[in-house]
Amino acid sequence: MPNLVRYEVKDGVAVLTIDNPPVNALAPEVWGEIDEAVKRGVADPNAEALVLIGAGTTFIAGADIKAFELLKTPADSMARSEGTHALLKRVEDCTKPLVAALHGNALGGGLEVAQACHFRVATKDAKIGQPEVLLGIIPGAGGTQRLPRLAGAKMALTMCTDGKPVTAPNALAAGIIDHIVADDLLTGAIAFAKSKAQAHEIRKVRDIVINADGVKAGLEACDAMRAALKKTAKGLRAPYAVVDAIEAGLKLSFDQGSVRERELFADCVASTESKALRHLFFADREVAKVPDVPKDTPTKDITRAAVVGAGTMGGGIAMNYANAGIPVLLKDVDQAALDRGMATIRKNYEVTMSKGKMTAEQVEKTMALITPTTTYDGFDQVDIVTEAVFENMDLKKATFTDLGRVTRPDCILASNSSTLDIDQFANASGRPAQVLGHHYFSPANVMKLLEIVRGKETSKEVIASSLKLSKKLAKVGVVVGNCFGFVANRMLAYYMREAYLLLEEGASVEQIDRVLVDFGLPVGPFGMQDIAGIDVGARIRQYLKSIGKSRAEGPQSAIPDRLFELGRYGQKTGAGWYMYDAPGSRNRTTDPLIEQMANEEAKKRGIVRRPISDEEIIARITTALANEGARVLADKFATRPGDIDVIYVYGFGFPRYRGGPMFYAETVGLPTVLSRVHEYRARFGDYWEPAPLLEKLVADGRGFYTQG
Ligand code: CAA
Repeated sequence: MPNLVRYEVKDGVAVLTIDNPPVNALAPEVWGEIDEAVKRGVADPNAEALVLIGAGTTFIAGADIKAFELLKTPADSMARSEGTHALLKRVEDCTKPLVAALHGNALGGGLEVAQACHFRVATKDAKIGQPEVLLGIIPGAGGTQRLPRLAGAKMALTMCTDGKPVTAPNALAAGIIDHIVADDLLTGAIAFAKSKAQAHEIRKVRDIVINADGVKAGLEACDAMRAALKKTAKGLRAPYAVVDAIEAGLKLSFDQGSVRERELFADCVASTESKALRHLFFADREVAKVPDVPKDTPTKDITRAAVVGAGTMGGGIAMNYANAGIPVLLKDVDQAALDRGMATIRKNYEVTMSKGKMTAEQVEKTMALITPTTTYDGFDQVDIVTEAVFENMDLKKATFTDLGRVTRPDCILASNSSTLDIDQFANASGRPAQVLGHHYFSPANVMKLLEIVRGKETSKEVIASSLKLSKKLAKVGVVVGNCFGFVANRMLAYYMREAYLLLEEGASVEQIDRVLVDFGLPVGPFGMQDIAGIDVGARIRQYLKSIGKSRAEGPQSAIPDRLFELGRYGQKTGAGWYMYDAPGSRNRTTDPLIEQMANEEAKKRGIVRRPISDEEIIARITTALANEGARVLADKFATRPGDIDVIYVYGFGFPRYRGGPMFYAETVGLPTVLSRVHEYRARFGDYWEPAPLLEKLVADGRGFYTQG
């Protein structure tokens, strides 16, 4: 048997130490060893009580998420959970006081094990929670039955539906833990356990009776939570299953409630929602692993930064640095633009303050970290410069030439270009190993994605430093290759093109946006473009035209350029795909002009407009994304399909519960996706061309994640 739970007796108390690094996850063997160790403690004449503790920096961070893959069917899950529930009842039936000692994270199954112990003590900084819902499941080892008995149904409902951990002081106040240990945890836990042994005190949580008033209030809280979830849990199943399980616990006995919990867990763990969320749990962590950039690659500490360009993106990027406590120079050539940029930054912070998320003092302290300037003075002191000037090749090249001159040789030079060739900036700087792309997403201070674009000569140190920096800036950094539009915007061009064509073929802007929002995106393609600015895409198209290229092969709608020519750039000008009350307003109304333009463009292309179903809109848009994603993968511009999923989740708000565009395509089925491409090619033209990788995977009966 692997020694995952160590046993020793200290000062008359059996100490059971779970040692399964890095987070003491409950792999199947750990469950078994806990069971055995408790039995041993009961039988041990030298132990009057037991303490269960985690080795290293944490208690138990939950069940082993990888092991859920073994639960292929609800029947598998029911069989497994029957054993787990029985095991925890045996633990709870321990005849000597059993104390869980919590530090680091006591999460999911970890907290459920602790609740089966008779008492819980914790360090002050321990985090205690039931985050299962974030994996599309519910607590499956009694948490929905024991937590309401300990903390009340209302608190249990909150913890299990939002998945956020509570602090030890809050857990103490709620009755989830019994004591906070100020000094050494093990010493404190042993002393606590001995005091309980001397008092002959054992408390089984499952025996706690919730009185009639508690049941009534709990049932009301269940109804209120269901109503609240309509807003916060759109498209999700697991949060509702949590409420059902807790409600069952209020209405039924502990054992009957536990059976209901197991049924609901079994149902959730087999769901696409849970598979998608589990996939993203690991994909989120994998993006930081770049195959040819080893973990021990030296990194540069970023202690001072500069941003060139005080526009919307530049200002947002400067805010990121300031938020992380890094002093930043913000340069623009034009004092008026600089003043506008600083005013926008202040306004953003004041909005945050008005929501109670920052104090006035914090606003001033953070603003003080941003130094506006119209010169390169001080650039020789910074560790990184992020260039965020207009998306214009010549201007950017000239900026990099300047930066090569005014910064130290070890300074990282990053471009926030969303499309252009990083290698050209690298050459212009004269220091190509130090140059790469840092592509932020709008609004740069809000969106969590940072595409880290490696050029031909970008050094491994610069990539590793960028990944480290992304964490410091609270971003998810994903390393991508240097192709036009990189990964996010390269694929977006196909997504947008399909939206434009659907409009010309007969769908309306409102229908397409609504369908994508119903699918789970925060905003549809047209609404998104009105926020980002129709001018941005138009200028990129102008540049491409000037070098004889286009973003996506095949037909392109003329409507976006027509809107650009009319000065309809979106929200900022008060008109774009929609009409707005005023420039900058978000209140939008339909504009019949768009319908008129769609009719005109359809006529020019010889298309008879037709009613288009919601299903066709989703199918075409997601197929376009997956087909281009397959090309991105084959061209090796993304390391893994999961990286593309992460990019779309954090860059564009692709719904997590669908796992990202590549994962979603697999849930649809790659053969179906390929047959759609063939069908669309026959119906709409040769611009629909199956990606060779997609064809190969289907022919081989494999998927994106099992390419071998
Ligand atoms: N199962 C399997 N692996 C896990 C894991 C788990 N529960 N929790 C973390 N890991 C792995 C991570 O994948 C990562 O692996 P790599 O180093 O190979 O990438 C490693 O442990 C370290 O994790 P992090 O990088 O996330 O470390 P961190 O210090 O930033 O965060 C943490 C630690 C807060 C515990 C975070 O890992 C986390 O949130 N884990 C998941 C917690 C969770 O959801 N628990 C509930 C599980 S479901 C359950 O318990 C069901 C039930 O009812 C029985």
